[in-house]
Amino acid sequence: MSQNLYAIIPAAGMGTRLRPATLATPKELLPIFDRPSIDLVLEEIFLSGINHVVIVTSKRKPMIREYLEGRVDESFENWMPKVVQTRGGKLVPKIEFVYQEEALGLGHAVYCASQHRPQSDFAVVLPDDLYFSDPETPALGQLVSSYRDSGQSQLGLMPVSAEELELYGAACLETPEIDSNRSAISALVEKPKRGTSDARHAVVGRYVFSHPINSHLREGEKGLGGEIQLTDAIAKMLASSGGHGVIGVTLQGERIDAGTKVGLLRASIREARARGIPIAL
Ligand code: UTP
Repeated sequence: MSQNLYAIIPAAGMGTRLRPATLATPKELLPIFDRPSIDLVLEEIFLSGINHVVIVTSKRKPMIREYLEGRVDESFENWMPKVVQTRGGKLVPKIEFVYQEEALGLGHAVYCASQHRPQSDFAVVLPDDLYFSDPETPALGQLVSSYRDSGQSQLGLMPVSAEELELYGAACLETPEIDSNRSAISALVEKPKRGTSDARHAVVGRYVFSHPINSHLREGEKGLGGEIQLTDAIAKMLASSGGHGVIGVTLQGERIDAGTKVGLLRASIREARARGIPIAL
């Protein structure tokens, strides 16, 4: 059933790929041009019409909470001018924090938040996966509107080459497609070894889940790399629904993986240029 969604931002990871910067500063507060990166994903969530956000963080990263608690006390117009310009009216953000004691994997991080509302559907946004989209159709908003149509779980997808597939969770799609951007998902596999999957779409860091995902997250089995993987819980939900419960939406917009050093730099340049600031390199 379609209902009011809240959004989870998992932000308890170690950020090892961005060391040494992340030894001093949480990845989510590193600047994208002049804004902490978490502001870009919060803006996307608010533009998508969701005001309730649960951030999963770690006791090692108290700065995230300190920063956001200061920010929500300020004028919303100053903090999120694009949201006010695009959506008009007044949005009252509600931001909560839960802690993941140990970085056991993305599936575990999501469950640390979602277990407190087992009957609620929710969105998940990965804060190092940045989408630069039209503010009227933010990446998460594309999933939310597809969810509103069907009440089913939605995964953000990106077309990839056969070579790139092994870096991502891979999705096989059913034919015929639902429309030019949407298909039911028939199978999922986390980082398939080269040549072992026909999939041509990667799952990116935007999701909307119907609440039955919680019972699969609760099982908490370790998967690839000894981590509790979100992909494994989604695959189990797909199997238990007879393979018809999850929709893949190819997202419109430019995605930048800001969890890598080069990606972080590209995202800063993209953000500056979007704001009309010329960058001569
Ligand atoms: P990543 O694997 O991209 O982030 O997880 P990471 O672990 O921080 O980065 P590296 O690989 O060490 O450089 C995707 C998102 O999931 C969160 C991360 O904070 C990131 O936002 N995450 C991951 C958790 O919250 N908990 C975990 O146990 C794992």
